[in-house]
Amino acid sequence: MAQGWILSILIVSMVISYAAADPPDPPSKPECHIPCDDSCGVDIHCSWNHRFDPQILTNYSLHWETAHSIEDRVNTGTSLSGFIDREHFSMNSELHVWVQAESKHGSAKSQVVVFDTGDLTKPPPPLITRSYEDPLEISWSSICNEPHLSLGSCDVRFRTQAEKLWHEDEIGAQVTYEFSGPVQAGVVYEFQVRCSCATGLISDWSATHRIRSSEAAPTGQIDVWKDCGVPATNADCVVTWKKLPTSQAHGQILGYEVTLFSKHTTNVLVNISVAEPRGLLMCDELKCYLKSSLKSVSSASVSAYNARGATVPSYLAIPTPGKVRSEHSIDVRMNTENLTVSWALPSQLPDTKSFKEYVVQYKQAGRLLGKGFNWIRVNKSCTTVTFKGHFERYRPYQVSLFTVTHDQQSHHFSSVIGYSCHGIPAKVRSFKVISIAATHATLFWEPVLLTMQNGLILYYEIGVHGQMAVYNVSASPQDENKTFELLNVSADQEYEVWIKAVTEAGPGDNVTISFITNQQQHLQLKLKSHLLSLLILLCLPVIICCLLVLLSFHRGTSKTCLCINEKIPDPYNSTIYQMMAYQVNEPVAWICIPIYEPHPTMSTLEVVEIQHQLCEQNCFFEDQTRPAASLEGCTRKHRYGKGEYSKMVDSEEEKDMSEVTGRDDCWSLSEEEQDTSGYEQHFIPTAAEILNA
Ligand SMILES: *[C@@H]1O[C@H](CO)[C@@H](O)[C@H](O)[C@H]1NC(C)=O
Ligand SMILES: *[C@@H]1O[C@H](CO)[C@@H](O)[C@H](O)[C@H]1NC(C)=O
Ligand SMILES: *[C@@H]1O[C@H](CO)[C@@H](O)[C@H](O)[C@H]1NC(C)=O
Ligand SMILES: *[C@@H]1O[C@H](CO)[C@@H](O)[C@H](O)[C@H]1NC(C)=O
Repeated sequence: MAQGWILSILIVSMVISYAAADPPDPPSKPECHIPCDDSCGVDIHCSWNHRFDPQILTNYSLHWETAHSIEDRVNTGTSLSGFIDREHFSMNSELHVWVQAESKHGSAKSQVVVFDTGDLTKPPPPLITRSYEDPLEISWSSICNEPHLSLGSCDVRFRTQAEKLWHEDEIGAQVTYEFSGPVQAGVVYEFQVRCSCATGLISDWSATHRIRSSEAAPTGQIDVWKDCGVPATNADCVVTWKKLPTSQAHGQILGYEVTLFSKHTTNVLVNISVAEPRGLLMCDELKCYLKSSLKSVSSASVSAYNARGATVPSYLAIPTPGKVRSEHSIDVRMNTENLTVSWALPSQLPDTKSFKEYVVQYKQAGRLLGKGFNWIRVNKSCTTVTFKGHFERYRPYQVSLFTVTHDQQSHHFSSVIGYSCHGIPAKVRSFKVISIAATHATLFWEPVLLTMQNGLILYYEIGVHGQMAVYNVSASPQDENKTFELLNVSADQEYEVWIKAVTEAGPGDNVTISFITNQQQHLQLKLKSHLLSLLILLCLPVIICCLLVLLSFHRGTSKTCLCINEKIPDPYNSTIYQMMAYQVNEPVAWICIPIYEPHPTMSTLEVVEIQHQLCEQNCFFEDQTRPAASLEGCTRKHRYGKGEYSKMVDSEEEKDMSEVTGRDDCWSLSEEEQDTSGYEQHFIPTAAEILNA
């Protein structure tokens, strides 16, 4: 064993030393010049680059060969530059120069450069001495005084501060440069110059000189919108807007004039300078928002000003809050970098004439106002939009589409919750048994809060310990409390039931409850009012009498009587039914009761429509089989019918949900969400408060 280890270590170290035994890469060609400052020097300065392994000591030597084939070298140690002393070369003659890198693993030689030693003087970079804003102009001093040479040629390069790339201009022997292109107002321009003299090399670029072009009044309009948080209530909403791009700001934006038009009281004009935001204005790189509640604000306008003027105000109508339905489907695909929203052009728009554009927005649920939020305005013929950004994993993003009219009224079109990556969901919030009978129990749970779901919940799994069966329960609508009817349980037994939420990433942790089913004989009357109980007690004898009569005379003919009425009470929702069933212990009879003795209490029973055919079948089964089984069969049949019904509703809802998925989530995701934004609700001054202040 130990030998094996040693062997592998040996092999590994052999591999490493073999890999590291490569000789160094060749260095770059040396660049050589004779620097001039106040006066020109005499020695040749050469420098080079090299990609080397910092772990391995590498030494360099600078080599040269004169026209007379005299070769010489100087060791520079680890330095990437060196000198050739004046004594080693003659002026105005050819020189061959190269560099050699050497480490313990070998050596490598650079390419050879050949030059005339008379052409090596390099003037210092020019110094920009004067500049003007209007027109944009720079001037610099000549750099060719000392060598007593005339100025050769100069290059100027420029860019605005927002640009990465330089634009370069060759201007000849000039010491001033007037910018001739179109000048953007109020923009910082950067300039650099380099020059050569009549002989020798061109200088390095000068230091950057910055000029702000003269300002003008801003143009265009502010893109103003509202951030309502998720879920949305107008109390939480704030006005938000995008900063003007430099091409429209035409200078430094000094502040914003925001007017909040109130529904009831006076309108409020807030004039906030960027320099003194007074806690009201919050801005990041790209956008700002006003920390003022929009409660009872009907519309808002925003304009930006600089020293020369202001933009035309942009208006935004603030819709009255309300639970809006999503009637259209939108599709959201997202990963951690891209969020793509697409939708179908609606066949009929509410008001095509005034419909101007769409606004697509996303908001990370549970984030503070102004955070995890963005929007974009797109042409009305557009049907897809991609946001670039950083979209956190396992976090719900509410993506919404609005239609906007020419007068800036926005109408909610649809919302969907999207995830850049689905995670394992948290446990359901509560899991209870809300009613227990002998053979069934009703389970109830509250779904995981949206902010803790970690992914879109596809369905819930419910299972009973010790039983193989796992029941799937649709998760839509996502936000609503759920119930589930657990059948297939026997009387007077303890059951442990578990539930898990399931997302694309898999099931979450389970919550388990246990309960004991009722005994068969034990009656569980859970009536809502005393009056009802009383009524039933009074009616019992009558019902029982009828039953007995029925039993003796009409056994086997229940088919007819039952099927007269297609509406029969749903025994599931009827405690009276259960009670009677236990007492008479003859199900054939009780099914017929409502027809023979329509009793007032029966009106309190839930009536379920069942199909004629189903009904006949029930009767048939009842006639042919043992009473207990028939009860079983009938009930199950009935249940089955109801199951079908609820299943149908579910799938209908599911269809709906695929269209509106998430919108409901957000609206009903209530308490906790509100807790999150409670802070802001508390501290955001209302329009009236601002007015008072
Ligand atoms: C807002 O403040 C700026 C700077 O103080 C001022 O120039 C401007 O006239 C003010 N606007 C209004 C509407 O008062
Ligand atoms: C986002 O989109 C860009 C371009 O459309 C693509 O290059 C990039 O790979 C996408 N990011 C991810 C994580 O898929
Ligand atoms: C529940 O749904 C999942 C996914 O659709 C499926 O794989 C599983 O078999 C279903 N289980 C039951 C009991 O229907
Ligand atoms: C439920 O959770 C408990 C505790 O985490 C675990 O021991 C048990 O196996 C889980 N049951 C199911 C059915 O996943």
